[in-house]
Amino acid sequence: MATYHQIPDDEKGYELDLFCVPKHYEEDLDRVIIPHGLIMDRTERLARDIVRDMGGHHIVALCVLKGGYKFFADLLDYIKALNQNCDKSVPLTVDFIRLKSYCNVLIVEDIVETGRTMETLLSLLSECNPKMVKVVSLLVKRTPRSSGYRPDYMGFEVPDWFLVGYALDYNEYFRDLSHICILNEKAKVKYKV
Ligand code: IMP
Ligand code: MG
Repeated sequence: MATYHQIPDDEKGYELDLFCVPKHYEEDLDRVIIPHGLIMDRTERLARDIVRDMGGHHIVALCVLKGGYKFFADLLDYIKALNQNCDKSVPLTVDFIRLKSYCNVLIVEDIVETGRTMETLLSLLSECNPKMVKVVSLLVKRTPRSSGYRPDYMGFEVPDWFLVGYALDYNEYFRDLSHICILNEKAKVKYKV
């Protein structure tokens, strides 16, 4: 069973004014839910858990674009730091969802909502007969729409809110925001396509 930090439904988060957010998003956000520093600290620990479990095996780290790229880059930086400083190390190569024959695969995803994206990807990947597949997702949404799918590693379980920042987007906006925040209703209309 994956361990994770649960963010409750009544989580108030943090006042926007306490943190630095880009000027062009100031009017669009309600609160900061997961500050960038906390994302990084939790990611550092996920990297340690992954190296502990997968150390010694060669792994293909598969980035699920586009939302996963920040988490992917930061998680791999922490794994690289551990590789340089620990007894156990994980030889890593990277890929960005292109299907071919894989040995051991670590899928890196930003957020699991219904779980359908990951279930589809896993069934596609099974056709390539990988030796081992593990999934790490920074966030998992607590929602009645969930299929019940749970990743092998997860950073935070979050309420059924639409979140942006740290590469999570709303119609391609907000990837250039460091903290994970709640989008306000006005912004949902403003950036609607
Ligand atoms: P699922 O197939 O329902 O699990 O959806 C997963 C995908 O939906 C993620 O990879 C995201 O691209 C997107 N998504 C789900 N919830 C959010 C959110 O709160 N903010 C931004 N993107 C989301
Ligand atoms: Mg995604």
